[in-house]
Amino acid sequence: MQLPDEAISYDYRNLLAPAIEDWTPAAEMHQQHFLSPGKLRDLTQRVLQVRSQVATERELRQVPLEMQPLDSGFIDLPQNLLDQSRKSPDASTLGQVMRIAQRMRESVDRFVILGIGGSYMGTRALFDALRSTYHNELPAKDRSGTPRIYFEGNNADSDSLHELFEMLSITCVDPDKRDERWGVTVISKSGGTLETAVAYRAIRREMAEYYGLHSPMTKKLIAPITGATGKLRNLCKADGFAEEDVLTIPDDVGGRFSIFTPVGLLPAAVMGLDVRALLLGAAAMTKRFLEERFETNPVLQYATVNYLMNTQYQKPIRVMSIWSKKLEALGLWYDQLLAESLGKQGQGPTPITAVQTRDLHSRGQQHQEGARDKVINNLVVKAVSQPPIMVGMADRNEDDLNQYNRKGLPDVMQAALQGTSKAYADVSRPTADIVMPTISEHTMGQLMQMLMLATVVEGRLMGVNPYGQPGVEMYKKNMQALLKTSAAQ
Ligand code: PA5
Repeated sequence: MQLPDEAISYDYRNLLAPAIEDWTPAAEMHQQHFLSPGKLRDLTQRVLQVRSQVATERELRQVPLEMQPLDSGFIDLPQNLLDQSRKSPDASTLGQVMRIAQRMRESVDRFVILGIGGSYMGTRALFDALRSTYHNELPAKDRSGTPRIYFEGNNADSDSLHELFEMLSITCVDPDKRDERWGVTVISKSGGTLETAVAYRAIRREMAEYYGLHSPMTKKLIAPITGATGKLRNLCKADGFAEEDVLTIPDDVGGRFSIFTPVGLLPAAVMGLDVRALLLGAAAMTKRFLEERFETNPVLQYATVNYLMNTQYQKPIRVMSIWSKKLEALGLWYDQLLAESLGKQGQGPTPITAVQTRDLHSRGQQHQEGARDKVINNLVVKAVSQPPIMVGMADRNEDDLNQYNRKGLPDVMQAALQGTSKAYADVSRPTADIVMPTISEHTMGQLMQMLMLATVVEGRLMGVNPYGQPGVEMYKKNMQALLKTSAAQ
């Protein structure tokens, strides 16, 4: 159940152009760069129609050719998974995910996640947001029985994978001890992505060497996640995996929309995250999207405001300015979601993730005085999760900080946010705020579902199919062709 004080909101008041009383150069700048409430009102009707269209699309049994691909399964998936698990806990997808996750947690102290793009970035976002930054350095007892987590198979970088193997061979010597065992999940919807497939082949070699060529242990320590058909599925069959040990990514959910399929849920459960709270948050956001009026609907507001800033105010650069270090990977996940979904037919905003206050010291100058091609969405977390670090009093005050002795880092962050927003507003640079009450499974579920839904709505407003990524296939084809030619030489 969603607690009302945990709901995410979108506050775009700072971005609206004020009514002009007297003409001044500043008022003129505001009209040019801030959103006219009239324009927003004019579009509202159309946005509501787009919502109906998105709602109807998801019920289509037969998808006409011109609408393909239509990967709208992600919209109802969180609620469907919760319902299914309530009705038949053991036979449900969630039951299957939990069983495999528990087996992994009990069996290994290190867990490698192989996957790229949509099969990796959301999981990374969850790990960084919801686990300690120093998770892997903590002793086992302080990780509440969850393994250390590593990400690979997201690149063709040989040195990086080599360093993983090196670390595993130094730290894991006796496969009979849980603390020296490692396991892996290999995630690929198509089952044919080269980076992940090569990493998996190399990992299987390492496993055979460490656990023994035909050891039954290896199958127990591998959790494949893939589509219903494809090369990875075939490999699992050939390897003799039991059907219930291979998790399936539904056909109607695209890679970058797959965080609430086993792609994100299995690793989340292995990390010890509250998977149900994640799904509840996502399901609550779907419900709000479908049922709430524009004035309280963060999905519709975010999609509309950002669509208008891009198409009518010449602001093609969309900065997600994140006021929490722990959400940087979430920003990168959104970069991928937006770029792959909307970067089509010569259109689409360019996403940029900035992490504050760090990037005030790198990008801040450009945001304040550079080209006026940006809209900034602050991602603001209202309450920190841990006791705040205070400035405090010190005997030596050469740093002049005693004056702030009762202030803490959250106060510094808040002052920086307000100071920055004011500095931008003063020179007519528009900002809006996505407000997250705190970082939890429930709010992460809401946020990710909100951004996925908003991306679909924005795509429909633009007249672009947000699903599919035909452009990415080109490099894959070329890469495979080049490899084939050189392999034949
Ligand atoms: O959003 C997408 O579909 C892509 O980013 C894919 O997730 C990425 O290319 C990886 O594909 P696969 O899961 O098939 O290995």
